[in-house]
Amino acid sequence: MQPQAFIFDLDGVITDTAEFHYLAWKQIGAELGIEVDRKLNERLKGVSRMESLERVLAAAPRPLDLSAGEKEQWATQKNLLYQGLIETIRPSDRLPGIDELLKSIRNADLLLALGSASRNAKVVLERLGLAGAVDYIVDAGQIRFGKPHPETFMNAADYFGIPYEACVGVEDSAAGIEAINAAGMFSVGIGSPDALREAKYLVADTSELTLGGILEAYRGDEDCGSPFRL
Ligand code: BG6
Ligand code: MG
Repeated sequence: MQPQAFIFDLDGVITDTAEFHYLAWKQIGAELGIEVDRKLNERLKGVSRMESLERVLAAAPRPLDLSAGEKEQWATQKNLLYQGLIETIRPSDRLPGIDELLKSIRNADLLLALGSASRNAKVVLERLGLAGAVDYIVDAGQIRFGKPHPETFMNAADYFGIPYEACVGVEDSAAGIEAINAAGMFSVGIGSPDALREAKYLVADTSELTLGGILEAYRGDEDCGSPFRL
């Protein structure tokens, strides 16, 4: 089987917004008396805003017992901080190697989708000047189940009408790699082997990504193709 589509995560893959999410949660944590360090942050990557808040709250030294309304307020507060941080994003903030990879995918006539858990995905993509660069966008508004559930990735493949095993997913989060694998797609991880041990193909950062390298690893992967069914 040849790959027919690439489905990219956004935050931490196309641009370094993963760092902005981290800084915003760190500040919210400080206001709540909870230390949000990089280890905890690995578990916040790829998951929804409210699930991230739950994970931050679970790290409190003493249970905080917030009402649903208070949780909404903290999640809104985090989003305001985040939106302030992404205001300055511009095309030069695309991560190294991403432009070349997107170009190679296009030149090879492969389909391209964005699969993000973020409700800010479209605005970030626009600020990066990439709104027209993808064929389809799946964001939190279109799915019932967030990563690590495979729905985000399955939704893109279903839209294209192609088999899951003909898709390559690119992710920087453990939740995202789990979602790609659960869909029976080929997972490309960006990050450390510690955090992303389940990735089928792993690079330390985006500058190491090449279409040739990914395709070679895809062809060498025998287990790709045990599709998940809802
Ligand atoms: C993901 C990020 O892309 O989007 C998570 O990796 C974030 O860290 C999630 O929580 C939701 O983002 P937003 O912008 O809707 O709060
Ligand atoms: Mg990410």
